[in-house]
Amino acid sequence: MIDYRLMNIDDYQQAYDLWILCGNGLNDKDDSREGIEKYLKRNPSTSFVATCDGRVVGVILCGHDGRRGIIQHACVSPDMRRLGIGNELVALALEALKNEGINKVLLVAFKKNEGGNAFWEAQGFTLREDLNYRNKALTELVRIDPDYTKE
Ligand SMILES: CC(C)(COP(=O)(O)OP(=O)(O)OC[C@H]1O[C@@H](n2cnc3c(N)ncnc32)[C@H](O)[C@@H]1OP(=O)(O)O)[C@@H](O)C(=O)NCCC(=O)NCCS
Repeated sequence: MIDYRLMNIDDYQQAYDLWILCGNGLNDKDDSREGIEKYLKRNPSTSFVATCDGRVVGVILCGHDGRRGIIQHACVSPDMRRLGIGNELVALALEALKNEGINKVLLVAFKKNEGGNAFWEAQGFTLREDLNYRNKALTELVRIDPDYTKE
């Protein structure tokens, strides 16, 4: 039996362990306990966890800037995939964004992540071939996801 509820900072360690296991892109500041606590304080009603017997088996970080929603760090434990958990987490996040008056939501996924991209396609997230994704670090960020350090 899977339960779904809002994520809170007490879920941090289990969520972090899952992100590391699932290969989500992480850095030392944004994904520290303090970083995630800051995010959840700013976005208290749009990030969710799935639990099974008290164990966190799925997470979705979701928030907005008052205009666009953004989804990050969606993941489901490898032993619990293809059961619809990711689908339900996305549905909860999208419903929460709609309740806050948000009309569009975006996300980024590594191109090499075929499963992840197939999942987002199935969720109706269209690929924007007409855009270049750009960003700029404002402080030094150290990537800490294991996949990245292997590259
Ligand atoms: C992507 C992820 C969150 C999907 O979670 P999930 O609970 O297994 O997804 P669901 O069971 O809800 O799948 C819904 C639909 O998405 C599609 N889908 C999901 N995973 C897929 C995969 N590996 N390959 C192809 N299609 C996939 C299917 O259409 C699936 O429906 P179906 O099972 O009836 O065919 C999970 O595989 C994961 O944690 N991956 C590693 C982290 C990641 O890639 N995160 C997202 C990128 S930012």
